Amino acid sequence: MTVQSLPEHPMLQGPFQPLHVEHELHDLPVVQGEIPRDISGAYYRIGPNLKYRPQQGVYGFHMGDGMAYGLYLENGKAHFKNRWVKTPKLALEDSLGRGAFEWEGGFPDHRNMGWERIQRSSENEGVPAGVANTNIVWQGNQLLAMGEDAVAPLVLDPESLTTTGIVNWSNQLGDGVTPRVNSEDGFFCAHPKIDPVTGEMFGYGFSTQEPYLTYYVVSADGKLALKQDIDAPFPAYVHDMLLTETHVVIPLFPTTFRHERVERQRCIMGWEPDLGTQIAVIPRSGGEVKWFEGDPCYVLHTGIAYAEDNKIVCVSPEFPVAAFPADGLENTWQEFQKAVLTRWTLDLESGGMSKERLDDRSVEFPRMDERLMGRDARYLFDIGSSDASGQIYEGFTSVIRYDLHAGASSAQHELPAGSYLSEAIFVPRRENGPEGEGYLMLNVYHFNEDKTDYVILDAENLSSGPLATIALPHRVPFTPHGNWRNA
Ligand SMILES: [Fe+2]
Repeated sequence: MTVQSLPEHPMLQGPFQPLHVEHELHDLPVVQGEIPRDISGAYYRIGPNLKYRPQQGVYGFHMGDGMAYGLYLENGKAHFKNRWVKTPKLALEDSLGRGAFEWEGGFPDHRNMGWERIQRSSENEGVPAGVANTNIVWQGNQLLAMGEDAVAPLVLDPESLTTTGIVNWSNQLGDGVTPRVNSEDGFFCAHPKIDPVTGEMFGYGFSTQEPYLTYYVVSADGKLALKQDIDAPFPAYVHDMLLTETHVVIPLFPTTFRHERVERQRCIMGWEPDLGTQIAVIPRSGGEVKWFEGDPCYVLHTGIAYAEDNKIVCVSPEFPVAAFPADGLENTWQEFQKAVLTRWTLDLESGGMSKERLDDRSVEFPRMDERLMGRDARYLFDIGSSDASGQIYEGFTSVIRYDLHAGASSAQHELPAGSYLSEAIFVPRRENGPEGEGYLMLNVYHFNEDKTDYVILDAENLSSGPLATIALPHRVPFTPHGNWRNA
């Protein structure tokens, strides 16, 4: 395989550096402890892994071709595979042996992440530019690779990780930020929520065109069951949402997409705090939207939500401003603001909203025992820092379990310095066991060795350290998200 030189960018270095080989490794060495024999299934992750140098020699997160990673556990043994997601973009570029896309306006602002109109030519005409690099989700009896914009979710074979197609509801989706070029190019978010009881998947799309937001429900058997346009007050970047047993919550923070910024040689995304935070609460089955207004803030990833006494309660790490570079903000990829665990209470009767800080540590990437998705779950698993100083993407060396039924008290596991930690994924020990009984799966990257270990923790006993450490002979580059599928 020919590897061209990639652009200079902090998100192409260290733990973000692409892996240019597709591996299949059997019976990986367990260098510490033992893999519990009651774990049986697949731990999937996905992340950006740029293959070809973009024509303009620039880079942003949303340009990195998705690569899927599978760690398959059975009878105390671990096997590994990784495969690029064969998006229409990558298929074209593979056929040419080089990058085939460039962005209108010349990609002038280093803070741009890759959302923008594509410069179309006879070469890339009709080919969606999306990369499917953000989340990997099991729903509707399908393994789905999801990005944010410019290509609908792709279907992967759960064993081989090869790309087998695209969801059959792609032609019912609307435009994203990048205008759609064909029926495969509709936009569905990368953070849908799945109800563990009904198997339905709840999601949305956002666009720079009015009405800016669309709400979707996908049935348990993988068909689009509901599409509702939402009149949103501004074209916001919406990365995540929340689900309860009665409603979905789609929060809009004042991070806006405006194509005219690019015409002024600026980043398409900007921070407009005067717009405040506008939170849409929608009945799960669709219908009238209730809007709640709050002060400007930003939630990148949502935690727990539930409905109680005509109120909706949401617990998530909250940033004071956008969690990434944007026009109007001074933060860079190296210097982020900190998110702290915060509870929102939305009163459906009065329309009022209240907030409560639950901790002062810097945390992100919240996950839960998803058998309780949409319900009043007790435990939230975050990664973060042992004090208030750590920053997202750097300096997170702690795995933290919050007990939200005990005043957000917590337990934690601290990794050695020189490690880089991924979002921790909860795996139940047995089908009908109590909430939180099980394991946490995580990727731990070691800077000095440029290698990744897979680490298994006891979710009920984090401070006792790993139950097992499984060594890979290479790195797994940054994977924002992953999910578990029981065998
Ligand atoms: Fe995310």
